[in-house]
Amino acid sequence: MTTDRDPAQLRSHRWFAPDDMRSFGHRSRLKAMGFDDEDYRDRPVIGILNTWSELNTCHSHFKQRADDVRRGILQAGGFPVEIPVMSLGEMLMKPTTMLYRNLLAMEVEEVLRCHPIDAAVLMGGCDKTVPAMLMGAISADIPSIFMPAGPMLKAKWKDVTLGSGSDVWKYWDERVAGNLCDSDWKGVENCIGRSAGTCMTMGTASTMACVTEAMGFSLPGAANVPAVVAEHARLGAQSGRRAVEMAWEDLKPSNFLTSKSIDNGLMTSMAIGGSTNAIVHLIAIAGRLGMELTLDRFDELSRITPVLADIRPSGRFLMEDFFDAGGLRAMLARMTDLLNTECQTVAGITLGQQIEGAEVIDDEVIRTRENPVDPAGGTCLLKGNLAPNGCVIKSVAADPDLLQHRGPAVVFDNYPEMKEKIHDPDLKVTAESVLILRSAGPLGAPGFPEWGMLPIPRKLLQAGVRDMVRLSDARMSGTSYGTCVLHIAPESAAGGPLALVESGDEIEINVPERKIHWHVSDDEILRRREKLPPSQELPERGYQRMYAKHVTQADKGCDFDFLTGRSPGQEPSIH
Ligand code: FES
Repeated sequence: MTTDRDPAQLRSHRWFAPDDMRSFGHRSRLKAMGFDDEDYRDRPVIGILNTWSELNTCHSHFKQRADDVRRGILQAGGFPVEIPVMSLGEMLMKPTTMLYRNLLAMEVEEVLRCHPIDAAVLMGGCDKTVPAMLMGAISADIPSIFMPAGPMLKAKWKDVTLGSGSDVWKYWDERVAGNLCDSDWKGVENCIGRSAGTCMTMGTASTMACVTEAMGFSLPGAANVPAVVAEHARLGAQSGRRAVEMAWEDLKPSNFLTSKSIDNGLMTSMAIGGSTNAIVHLIAIAGRLGMELTLDRFDELSRITPVLADIRPSGRFLMEDFFDAGGLRAMLARMTDLLNTECQTVAGITLGQQIEGAEVIDDEVIRTRENPVDPAGGTCLLKGNLAPNGCVIKSVAADPDLLQHRGPAVVFDNYPEMKEKIHDPDLKVTAESVLILRSAGPLGAPGFPEWGMLPIPRKLLQAGVRDMVRLSDARMSGTSYGTCVLHIAPESAAGGPLALVESGDEIEINVPERKIHWHVSDDEILRRREKLPPSQELPERGYQRMYAKHVTQADKGCDFDFLTGRSPGQEPSIH
């Protein structure tokens, strides 16, 4: 191990070094576990925060991968300690992992703060685990490096390449329309998840992994390594080794994360045609740094950033293709004029140095600046009388013919009502209708679930319709697509105008002009507001009560109001 570094500078030194009764207890109980002085004396303690769980389908390789991280930590002279933290598995957790993002963030913050940890490797990947772990580490402000789970391998069914999530929606529409038999549906089910890892489309997991690397929070090239290839095991060891160095350097999130790093993250999410969820998470991450990231800033950057990654659901390829084509580093190297390349990263170098020399291998997967998937604005902010605080649409994944549209509303008061009525043959709906779902936001659902890609009514599917305008205060999965206007703020449960819309009202969206308009007079809106029933009561107890009392709206990042702002950096009393 490095000998010219002063162990007294280590945080863990306060736990283990003093000759007093408490430190005696700390040491003697480690000895009870089979460790001795040589394991921890004068070595940085590196926490491996592992979101493994048997109910998190995307992290099934994390037991083994933690051992790779441990190997790297030992090689570099650190003392590895693996600590399980809450696992937010997108597929099996209900009503939505978003309800628990802030809980994991709180856990990560407090686990880091209360233990003798000098640096941490954050092992996450499935959607909300990424922002949650970053938010917690930023608030604890202890040296931390993020190690993404990596995407699954490409899936194959017959001669078709399947993409997670996106092809589920696509084939389900065909099933509802009566075009897919039982055995084919079973075939898709059997083949669509080919390995450990996160969704291999540009869903929220891959989006956030790319955003994290662009912000400087993971090693160069980490974002896209498929979960089960040999490079991923090596990435684990590299992350472990680097965490030990970060402990000696005391390289904290507050040392390298700036508003410019956040801008890099935002532009990256645009350039990859990333998930709309990234917007909410980035606002929350910036909030932990004491910065206000507005939707207007997001719109500003969206207008100048081309979509370069041709990945589903906005494009044609999958994450494995992106990796083979050169991955995120190569894509970022094509947009250095837009990025703040001077930003520092956990690797101890600048973003510019991190991407220098990275080459694109396939111009079809990572497009040139002259031939982008979309010249700008993969995701757009809309504002108007139905969304005074804004809403978003992933225009690059929508039917271009619907980006300027006016039609009559078909309103569902909540998700159960929508499920019950959407395929009713008597539902008064046409391809020109605007489907509206409310009570689906942070408070209303609660938890802000991914219900925003409302299903197309069966009778329209059978008539060949595959997209229509849909509006909600919900989110949608990063693997979803279609003309879905999301995150309407304020949400209906918070008294937003969406609560007052009635079926038959004319709704207009104009994405090129970034507008949404509800064609109802102000007098009529006032009349309806007077009749609005009182808002729903808070849950009586537990985490859900705290959540309902403190969660902010979509345009504010849905963090708890008492968690935003820089940490005062309080260290626990030990003696
Ligand atoms: Fe875990 Fe998609 S379900 S990343």
